[in-house]
Amino acid sequence: MITNFISLLDFTGDQLAMLLDRAIADKAIWRAGQLPHTLSGKTLAMIFEKPSLRTRVSFETAMNDLGGHAIHLTQAEIGIGSREAVQDIARVIGRLCDGIMARTFSHQFVETMGRYADVPVVNALTDFSHPCQAMADVMTIREHFGGLAGKTITFVGDGNNVARSLSVACHKLGMNFILACPRGYELQDPFLAEFGPSYRVEHDPQLAVTSADCVYTDTWVSMGQEDEKEKRRRDFTGYQLNMDLMAHAPKHAIILHCLPAYRGFEITDEALEAHFETILDEAENRLHFQRTLLNILMGEGGIP
Ligand code: CP
Ligand code: NVA
Repeated sequence: MITNFISLLDFTGDQLAMLLDRAIADKAIWRAGQLPHTLSGKTLAMIFEKPSLRTRVSFETAMNDLGGHAIHLTQAEIGIGSREAVQDIARVIGRLCDGIMARTFSHQFVETMGRYADVPVVNALTDFSHPCQAMADVMTIREHFGGLAGKTITFVGDGNNVARSLSVACHKLGMNFILACPRGYELQDPFLAEFGPSYRVEHDPQLAVTSADCVYTDTWVSMGQEDEKEKRRRDFTGYQLNMDLMAHAPKHAIILHCLPAYRGFEITDEALEAHFETILDEAENRLHFQRTLLNILMGEGGIP
């Protein structure tokens, strides 16, 4: 039984597929207005060291949908690692609440919480990864195409936290992941060497999208990299997701973006608007995936 959701590397493909099956089934029950209050009386502590729209709203709504409650805690209030050591925060919240969701710069902080808290800990984005996002993304692809096996995501942009989680999700779920990035912005993780042909780096974005079912992008400047903004914007010239690039992709290819989008930089208005309905499905699926995840972790004792 796995009691935390910190890295997709911790799970088998079957476990991830089971989570998707459950999330898709629960979404239908929710749409029918028949979702039971399985987390009634339970509280999720939500720790945010970085800003958020989707993550905060989707986790809080998920708890509300399940009859539970969520507490929003910012870095200004709790001072992770400055006012209080991360292991102390984790142990105290473990006594007061039934689950922890954390968005931090340091991935180690979330791992430490997972070790010290005796309640489930969910990674809601670190500098290293964004597993809830990747699961909502593959859920969207599965709903759109009716399956995942053999599908290809071409990620045009920075080898960042979102790209890393997507590459793992793709490998585990029998999909292909192509990272189209400028030299120097590749993912560097040793585990990628074991992914075989399911993971590929391509420096020519036009070539990279020719086999894409989904063309994905994310900001060139992640939270915490604001000092590198000008350099990054220069370095990523030629890696914009625009309609000219989409002309090289198969006609059926969709665009996904985790949002927030920086229009005119990593993606044009035109490309974003042309695919905004699917991107909204993707944002909505954050709620559906995470609600199922919380239900399993906080209501059923973990992921079998
Ligand atoms: N995609 C995502 O995590 O959005 P927020 O940063 O607004 O939560
Ligand atoms: N890579 C982005 C994702 C935002 C949801 C960041 O870390 O800022």
